Amino acid sequence: MDSILVRGNGPLKGQIPIAGAKNACLTLMPATLLTDEPLTLTNAPRLSDIKTMSELLASLGTEVASLQDGQVLALGTKEISNHTADYDIVRKMRASILVLGPMLARDGEAVVSLPGGCAIGARPVDLHLKGLEALGAVLELKDGYVHATAPGGLKGAQFEFPFVSVGATENILMAATLAKGTTVLKNAAREPEIVDLAECLRKMGAEIGGEGTSTITIQGVEQLHGATHPVVTDRIELGTYMLAPAITGGEVELLGGRRSLLGAFCNKLEAAGVEVEETSAGLKVAQKNSRIRAVDVVTEPYPGFPTDLQAQMMALLCTADGTSVLEETIFENRFMHAPELMRMGADIDVHGGTATVTGVDRLKGAPVMATDLRASVSLILAGLAAEGETVVSRVYHLDRGYEHVVGKLSACGASIERIRG
Ligand code: UD1
Repeated sequence: MDSILVRGNGPLKGQIPIAGAKNACLTLMPATLLTDEPLTLTNAPRLSDIKTMSELLASLGTEVASLQDGQVLALGTKEISNHTADYDIVRKMRASILVLGPMLARDGEAVVSLPGGCAIGARPVDLHLKGLEALGAVLELKDGYVHATAPGGLKGAQFEFPFVSVGATENILMAATLAKGTTVLKNAAREPEIVDLAECLRKMGAEIGGEGTSTITIQGVEQLHGATHPVVTDRIELGTYMLAPAITGGEVELLGGRRSLLGAFCNKLEAAGVEVEETSAGLKVAQKNSRIRAVDVVTEPYPGFPTDLQAQMMALLCTADGTSVLEETIFENRFMHAPELMRMGADIDVHGGTATVTGVDRLKGAPVMATDLRASVSLILAGLAAEGETVVSRVYHLDRGYEHVVGKLSACGASIERIRG
């Protein structure tokens, strides 16, 4: 198994291009199942999760062509030839559940394996199922699979999410585009990836309003058609690389970045003493003060501080002046990186959903283990600031969500290499 070797060697300086969003691309791809015409996605990220979604769609009958070195995905589903999303693929990637709504909407039938838990929590899919039931789906759970039918087709309805779910909003939004009548989704997720999906679906002929607010209205149409759509910028990759100059005391411009994607995160960085400036090409981040200031962080659905940046922010706060409190409200088990950071000399105390981080002068390199995607990159950030060598193992987690991480960081002067093994 490959690992990544990082040597802390001072401030990073340069530019980092930000890719299209993994999480947006993973929800845009299943939209191909809603139409027999081609859907072309540009600005796609080159990641193993995207390959997994391609495999899943291919198993359902989609023709998938990866063009221009993977940055363009040409998808065509003339017909859905198999309506079963198999456990072998779904267990690798939870976003696989996003094929359920589109398949059901187009053909009135879908069988999808239940994803099960993952490293960061139990992560049930009950809201996806309840929302589809509200649209008239009949569901049966059998042998670990959900068997869904919609005799007579899905029908528009009003559905209020008891709490915000990004994936459930996406699944039901896609299903509602082909339902008969009007669907109103209340307490819907407002993430930029939802807005991107709605924009793409609209290009495909869907009638959608209110995306980006907590009420989304969808007027069902008879059929959708083909479209070409660029995947929105990856705000989590953006935030992650914004932390690289912050943690090393450098200055880096993130090409394609926009403050509007990450308002709450930018505010916290500034409160910690980091400079964030919008430029014509993106966002420039500089850390000129001698030490980061401690700040408290609470993760929340968009537009709040993203849970997907909590681990990376914790790495930064490990060397802050003072004590920071990080509260994780989205996932119940998302501090797996804390014991690994402690192996590097961090002072962290975890109690339930709260981590108290008291800054130390300097982290020390150590062998550490990635436990999930965002945890893995937090350890790389910590390694960039640490004294000595850090070896991060299990980097297959990293490959799910960060393309060319070694190339992007070494272009800014980082001492980082991938060790094959
Ligand atoms: C998406 C992102 C993930 C991010 C998360 C929160 C993708 C592919 N993944 O995940 O990177 O961390 O949003 O911003 O876009 N829940 C239920 N029942 C459900 C659905 C969710 O109880 O049916 C719970 C989850 O366990 C979690 C919370 O709701 O505690 C929010 O999860 P959700 O927003 O659905 O996350 P995902 O869409 O899975």
